[in-house]
Amino acid sequence: MRECFIAPSILSADFGYLMDELRAVEGEAEYIHIDVMDGHYVDNLSFGIPVVNSIRKYSDKIFDVHLMITNPGKFIKPFVDAGADIITFHYECTDDPVAMSELVRSYGIKSGIAVHPDTPIEEILPYVDKTDKILLMTVRPGFGGQGYMEISDDRIKAVRKAIDDKGCNTLISCDGGINNETASRVYQAGCDILVAGDAVFRNDDHAAAVRELYKKAIG
Ligand code: DX5
Ligand code: ZN
Repeated sequence: MRECFIAPSILSADFGYLMDELRAVEGEAEYIHIDVMDGHYVDNLSFGIPVVNSIRKYSDKIFDVHLMITNPGKFIKPFVDAGADIITFHYECTDDPVAMSELVRSYGIKSGIAVHPDTPIEEILPYVDKTDKILLMTVRPGFGGQGYMEISDDRIKAVRKAIDDKGCNTLISCDGGINNETASRVYQAGCDILVAGDAVFRNDDHAAAVRELYKKAIG
């Protein structure tokens, strides 16, 4: 059986109690998903380098920083210095995804390439072995709490096939609308890391929510 990870997305956490929120899921999750938005690539703002830097002091989980920003190259080093373990940039925000991936890796951390749902999936397939993770957006990026886009199943399967055909061990992550109803279909389609914001943090028992998602995913 393929491994399956649930990555809580702190975008849906109560920022007034951010470390308490993080601690509530740390026992259940390897990866913490951290959404950075610039109000330009996406129509929303979230938080940035100082917040990552602060929570890094109190957590040893794997921080996956999802940069929903134009010109990501400018901010790779600052986020490395703030403590990112994985930096995921958008395919649509760079002219050279291979070079961007290499830049991230040059700091000794892992790279991820995020893909907007409007981007034809065939465009991504040549890059699956040039990065450590493909992050498929399963909603339009910018906001938590949206519904899973049905077109995503086939997109996940296409990326899964490309990875398996190439024999590389790149991970697939899905981001947006993952809940107890959708967890199983994305895992079955080939997803390894299920990002979940509302499904975890809108449930009073965050840890139980992560456990439940995992159980639903693997069936
Ligand atoms: C949306 C973000 C997601 C978001 C997912 O643009 O990239 O990580 O937190 O939230 P849910 O799980 O609520 O759809
Ligand atoms: Zn995200």
